[in-house]
Amino acid sequence: MRNFEFYNPVKISFGKGQIAKLSSLIPSDANVLLTYGGGSIKSNGIYDQVMNALKGYNISEFSGIEANPHYETLMKAVDLVKDKKIDFLLAVGGGSVLDGTKFIAAAALYEGSDPWDLLLHRRTVKASNAIPLGTVLTLPATGSEMNGTAVVTRWETKDKMAFDSVHVMPKFSILDPEVVFSLPVRQVSNGIVDAYIHVMEQYLTYPVNAPVQDRFAESLLLTLIEEGPKVLANRSDYDAASNLMWAATMALNGLIGVGVPQDWASHMIGHELTAFCGLDHGQSLCVVLPGIMHLKRRNKEEKLLQYGQRVWNITEGATDEKIDVIIEKTVNFFESVGVKTKLADYGVGVEIIPRIIDRFKTRGITAIGERGDLTLEEIGKVLELRLK
Ligand code: NZQ
Ligand code: ZN
Repeated sequence: MRNFEFYNPVKISFGKGQIAKLSSLIPSDANVLLTYGGGSIKSNGIYDQVMNALKGYNISEFSGIEANPHYETLMKAVDLVKDKKIDFLLAVGGGSVLDGTKFIAAAALYEGSDPWDLLLHRRTVKASNAIPLGTVLTLPATGSEMNGTAVVTRWETKDKMAFDSVHVMPKFSILDPEVVFSLPVRQVSNGIVDAYIHVMEQYLTYPVNAPVQDRFAESLLLTLIEEGPKVLANRSDYDAASNLMWAATMALNGLIGVGVPQDWASHMIGHELTAFCGLDHGQSLCVVLPGIMHLKRRNKEEKLLQYGQRVWNITEGATDEKIDVIIEKTVNFFESVGVKTKLADYGVGVEIIPRIIDRFKTRGITAIGERGDLTLEEIGKVLELRLK
């Protein structure tokens, strides 16, 4: 195992009725900005629960944070924060609202000329340069509720980029599995596969003798395989919703990634598919990952076989035969929970390949993946494999 530091200060309040605890989590004299998306929290009652819990607080609102949150939208919130002298942000939503709010937290106190540099140049955020934030998660998927990552899209240029800082990690996150009851099928499906692929990015690399991380990762994959379909079949299954929610949080709160190599190529390529072609985040990952498994089978051979054996019980056959079956099982799982896995399924053709390669070139990126050897040419091949 490699050396590592692990620090995760996010307080989690998990379970039914936890939204009522908000007043014990936010200072009573705080000047709060409530941030949310397109309105689902109004129709499913979460907004009312939050407002009831915060009676007597000084609260302003910023709504309309879209999926794959736009820098242009978020900068309007930054103006509001400055104008109203906001000193606490409460994000109520899915990954997009949470990520957008992390950006607002750092952008509002950014000392340079353009907060986009936080993403473009990965500028460091100082502790004194981030407004504290808390979250009420409404969609189990991204893990944003318990990490310091935010992904933001600059709509004007179709750039989808990430930044990371311990200082935008939420002070607390409320995880009430009942929020799942109102989720549309598509978002449940996206959440299952996003969490699954977060695990894969940190697991499907090469062995460094880290059995704790490996077993944790495998338990998350198995939990997603078992519990995800239960949530799809019955949105009111509280136990299944709880397990899905906690698995998704654990998949990207840093724990399984300590001391091990990490890949993230599916995410890097997937973000371009979202930015250029509008695929949902989860959809983009299900297109890319099988291509990487196929092309990088030698690099990933030991972990592929371990994954196949421990998660899918695949033990028979020659190495490449087993790997083919393992990829097929993985693809079938994504399709079985309702996410299509080919570019043609989303109306995307071969013309996207040079655009994506050019994008990486422009950013000065020549290769990605856990060994830094998935070249631009190979990124093209991965996408070719996933055409139809
Ligand atoms: O906007 P509203 O009306 O709230 O509707 C949302 C949105 O349309 C809806 N929704 C959320 N909770 C709901 C609900 N509808 C009914 N009932 C509920 N309880 O779901 C739609 C999608 O929401 P969104 O927040 O976009 O989804 P998700 O949580 O999948 O977030 C995706 C974003 O997170 C980023 C992605 O790139 C993408 O921008 N990611 C963030 C990561 C992180 N911070 O660590 C890691 C991930 O890999 C990912 O990149
Ligand atoms: Zn993801």
